[in-house]
Amino acid sequence: MKRTALITGASAGIGAALARVYAEKGWDLILVARRATLLEDLARELTVDHGATAVVLTADLADPDAPHRLAMTLEQRGLTVDALINNAGFSRTSGFLATDPDEHAAMIDVMLTAPIALSRLLIPGMVERGFGRVLNVASLAGLMPATGGDTLYGPIKSFLIKASAGLHLELAGTGVNVTALCPGYTLTEFHDVNGSREEVSSAYPAWMWQTADHVARVGYAAVEANRPRVVPGWRNNLLAAIPKLLPDNLALKIIGGHAKRLKRI
Ligand SMILES: NC(=O)c1ccc[n+]([C@@H]2O[C@H](COP(=O)([O-])OP(=O)(O)OC[C@H]3O[C@@H](n4cnc5c(N)ncnc54)[C@H](OP(=O)(O)O)[C@@H]3O)[C@@H](O)[C@H]2O)c1
Repeated sequence: MKRTALITGASAGIGAALARVYAEKGWDLILVARRATLLEDLARELTVDHGATAVVLTADLADPDAPHRLAMTLEQRGLTVDALINNAGFSRTSGFLATDPDEHAAMIDVMLTAPIALSRLLIPGMVERGFGRVLNVASLAGLMPATGGDTLYGPIKSFLIKASAGLHLELAGTGVNVTALCPGYTLTEFHDVNGSREEVSSAYPAWMWQTADHVARVGYAAVEANRPRVVPGWRNNLLAAIPKLLPDNLALKIIGGHAKRLKRI
């Protein structure tokens, strides 16, 4: 029997890479994002390349009702979700005061409200069936000291990492694995969407960048192994470890200057 993975933010970057990895491993897919044409192109590719059935469901996860509507559509269409991959996300780097409050609300809805609501809606079925996977795409930023400029992004990801760890513990023994994936800089549309591509490319060297395919493969292996959290790459693991060795105020001063380096604040 084929399993089905629902991936949010599957139209680009890490989400599209995860869809390709899951299809390659023999899963069917439910692809969720706003841009229908990209999702439909990807669905066709997954069918041709891997024989996967891929269903496209467009949704704007900045709408707090979107997760409930998605769950209703799944039920109406008789679709079962064996793996939930909460991946959709974006950041705003121009500073807290320069960012429209609606954009702040959208960040929280897309990266926190939606993952939590979808988890609450879909995990009970997984527990009942004795099999499930939840992969929450967080960020290395969630493990690092705060940064000014993209002020809400790190805390949102910290929340997701800690909530994933709690869920991981709570679901032990149920057959449902829960993992937070914490990538460092990854080559996707992310920095084009937030307008920092040029600054981020010159501020951070090539060795700090990973491909979406690599990140997706690390995430897939980690949730299959039921690791509570994974950081792809030894360099990113080192970056996550350094601040823990420093007094908090010093770590904040040295490492939290990210937005300053990008000349954003
Ligand atoms: N790239 C990095 O350096 C990096 C590092 C660490 C963590 N991450 C995390 O990785 C995840 C994926 O990011 P990425 O790098 O792959 O970025 P990306 O290439 O910009 O892709 C973001 C995805 O999220 C979807 N999305 C954004 N807003 C949405 C909304 N309102 N409703 C539904 N879907 C929405 C986009 O789809 P539509 O536009 O079609 O809706 C797109 O598929 C994010 O959670 C991000 O925080 C990225």
